[in-house]
Amino acid sequence: MKDLSLPPALPQLLLPWYRANARDLPWRRTRDPYAIWLSEIMLQQTRVEAVVTYYLRFLEALPAIRNLAEADDEKLLKLWEGLGYYTRARNLKKAAQKIMAEHGGVFPDTYQEILALPGIGPYTAGAIASIAFELPRPAVDGNVLRVIARLKALKENVDVPTVRKNIERSLAGVYPAEGRGDFTQALMELGAVVCLPNGLPKCKICPLAPLCAARKENTVLQYPVRSVKKSRRAEQRTVLLMVHKGRTAICKRGGAGLLSSLWEFPNVEGKLSKAEVLALADDFGAGPHEIERCGEKKHVFTHIEWRMTVWRVECDCMPPGFQWATQEELASKYALPTAFKICLS
Ligand code: ADE
Ligand code: SF4
Repeated sequence: MKDLSLPPALPQLLLPWYRANARDLPWRRTRDPYAIWLSEIMLQQTRVEAVVTYYLRFLEALPAIRNLAEADDEKLLKLWEGLGYYTRARNLKKAAQKIMAEHGGVFPDTYQEILALPGIGPYTAGAIASIAFELPRPAVDGNVLRVIARLKALKENVDVPTVRKNIERSLAGVYPAEGRGDFTQALMELGAVVCLPNGLPKCKICPLAPLCAARKENTVLQYPVRSVKKSRRAEQRTVLLMVHKGRTAICKRGGAGLLSSLWEFPNVEGKLSKAEVLALADDFGAGPHEIERCGEKKHVFTHIEWRMTVWRVECDCMPPGFQWATQEELASKYALPTAFKICLS
């Protein structure tokens, strides 16, 4: 693709708009690279409204890089419980350990060093470099791709890596001398609240409207051009709530793949009959004596969707091989992913 030229006036249009209209978000009130890093990791796959409480609680529990580097895994995952994409939490800790070991506990302040940390790709490195360190590095996420694709009426597929790189390079070229972090966030903000993904963008209130090619052509909904997403596979699962004297059986998932090393209720693939569920609980050695079908639950992951049938099974004993957790422990001690949490309601 030919080089993308972007109007040098972008910062002077966007910065005043951002400063007058930016949402007041907690990570916009700090200059602490650790806090900004945390916010960017949480925001990668999670909505702003959902992130705020997690972010504040996390920083209260683990206020500095050292605390994160030394955090107990169970505690860390509990702080992440419900946010999803738990690899993000594991990588945060790995990166904190690397910062302790290789940077003397001080968050590195160059793009390349930031990019070399676990869990940090070009997007997050650009966000931290510009927001925490005022470096002229863009952070091109879905929001920013959409804004630029519309602004330029870009025919190329923005999911193609070279196209994305080209957008990054062009944006880096128009970074202002001052307010670089604000410029990065202004682009994100415009995509989040004005140049909307679903439904009509609010071109009438957009500071870029005078420069916007798609608006001029009346083709805003044709952009961005993206690859067709692969559809999600649906999987039936059967989940057992095995209960004995107020305790419920949980077990730890295996060390690889979806939700690895998190806690779960015993579950198997497929839609088991009542007799099969009883036989399974019996195989576990739990002495099932009463069984009730609680209902169907659905949980959507990125590439798969679980359709779960939940059974409550009263048991005579608590065989080993499981943790038998009280309601209190389920709430405060063990990190139970949302897919299983919803089985309790
Ligand atoms: N999404 C990603 N980074 C963000 C930020 N700093 N503020 C708001 N939304 C974001
Ligand atoms: Fe997006 Fe409309 Fe602004 Fe163009 S004018 S950048 S389409 S909101």
